[in-house]
Amino acid sequence: MREKLIGRSCRLFYSDDPVKIVRARGQYLFDENGKRYLDCISNVHHVGHCHPSITKAAAAQMDLLNTNTRFLHDSIITYAERLAATLPEKLGVFYFVNSGSEANDLALRLARQYTQHEDVIVLDYAYHGHLTSLIDISPYKFRKLAGQKEWVHVVPLPDTYRGMYRDNHPNPGQAYADTVKDLIEDVHRKGGKISAFFAESLPSVGGQIILPQGYSAKVAEYVHAAGGLFVADEVQTGFGRVGSHFWAFQLQGEDFCPDIITMGKPMGNGHPVACVVTTVEIAKAFEDNGVEYFNTFGGNPVSCAIGLAVLDVIEKEDLRGNAVRVGAHLKDLLNKLQAKHRIIGAVRGVGLFIGLELVTDREKKTPATETAPCDLAQCPIYVRLKEEDQIVISTDGPWDNVLKFKPPMCFTVEDAELVAKSIDRVLTGQLNTPVLYSWYYRIVYVNITQDKTSKPFNSTKHLTLTLQIITKRSMCNINKNFYFYQFAQDTRGMSFQ
Ligand SMILES: Cc1ncc(COP(=O)(O)O)c(C=O)c1O
Repeated sequence: MREKLIGRSCRLFYSDDPVKIVRARGQYLFDENGKRYLDCISNVHHVGHCHPSITKAAAAQMDLLNTNTRFLHDSIITYAERLAATLPEKLGVFYFVNSGSEANDLALRLARQYTQHEDVIVLDYAYHGHLTSLIDISPYKFRKLAGQKEWVHVVPLPDTYRGMYRDNHPNPGQAYADTVKDLIEDVHRKGGKISAFFAESLPSVGGQIILPQGYSAKVAEYVHAAGGLFVADEVQTGFGRVGSHFWAFQLQGEDFCPDIITMGKPMGNGHPVACVVTTVEIAKAFEDNGVEYFNTFGGNPVSCAIGLAVLDVIEKEDLRGNAVRVGAHLKDLLNKLQAKHRIIGAVRGVGLFIGLELVTDREKKTPATETAPCDLAQCPIYVRLKEEDQIVISTDGPWDNVLKFKPPMCFTVEDAELVAKSIDRVLTGQLNTPVLYSWYYRIVYVNITQDKTSKPFNSTKHLTLTLQIITKRSMCNINKNFYFYQFAQDTRGMSFQ
């Protein structure tokens, strides 16, 4: 039914064997059979799924009033004041919207209006949203579509693991910033003018990248000299995810402050709230165009009540402190795994924003993507984590070889230990336990014999295809004694190639 009614480009996690989640709490999701999954994906459900304080605040305000920003209301002011208290003083004018995409689209308008320039610089592999304007500035998307607009300019991702300047470079921050300087000069030579440099404070789709120190301040200097603005996309990384700071851009030091910040996902803990904050001067230029900015739902009393409740929970439950402690512990465990498993090329991250980059060859840094030969029977690790230990996690990066950790901020030390233990077991089985292979194919055989719905195999290709599908589906059973027993009964005396 879903395939018929819902656009097929709206993809599912684990599309070969999707999960139907019917309720959630904290860092846990529960499927229709009551099976519990540990959520390592959702940075949206920032303070924990269905947090009672958030639900209470939402229900109370919903019961009282939900108008729009054309009427006076206290909570939008209180909320803006609370957000302002987390930000440098110069960022004090807020626009409330409904999604990260809307926030970035508005940021683009603000930058163009203020600078009267058109061109935009973005990081390679960046994603800034799904609106037409943002697909245009998202190499991650436009590379798959019509291509790059002439006003969009792409600079290298400052990835010190596999990028053009690496950890062994004396000053990668300066070196990567200089690629922006060179690009600006090139744009000027061709007659273009820079309106904005857009970057996530920690590029996530790019593979959980930590920007080298000094990068953002230097880039801001070059962009300002060209008359442009620095837009920090904090849609994924804001609200204390990095633990030590409320905003990820603050990791770049006190001498750096963006001109515009966009925020979204964690703001409403699942409720659609997003925001743009900027300076008085930039807001003034936007106002001077004489056109009203009205957003039907943005900043409504319910959204603001929820946003305020999220801020309260972050403070009351010391979720930033938790991100520091649990994130450090998880990183430590993953570093230990790196010493043991050659497939782990890099572990990086800060707070509860962590990436584990998988490679088939450490020296060449060959990405271990889904089909990498070291991957047991071509079943991706993230699928095995779900099937065998009910851990849901996603992958990203240009080669889809980075396991991304950005769980709800109530993630615990025990959760981190479960994740590390599970990855260790999966990787150990993958590389060191040939017997697992043998069992694995036997399980596949058992599944085939049990699969009453499948038609007879009429060609080797059909058999191979079916094997691949069943292989993926059957991973969940790899630990179940039933299948081992079943195999022993069914396959006595048979040989498996
Ligand atoms: C960095 C970043 N910016 C913007 C967006 C767009 O946000 P939304 O999906 O809320 O429109 C996303 C969404 O994934 C994102 O990751």
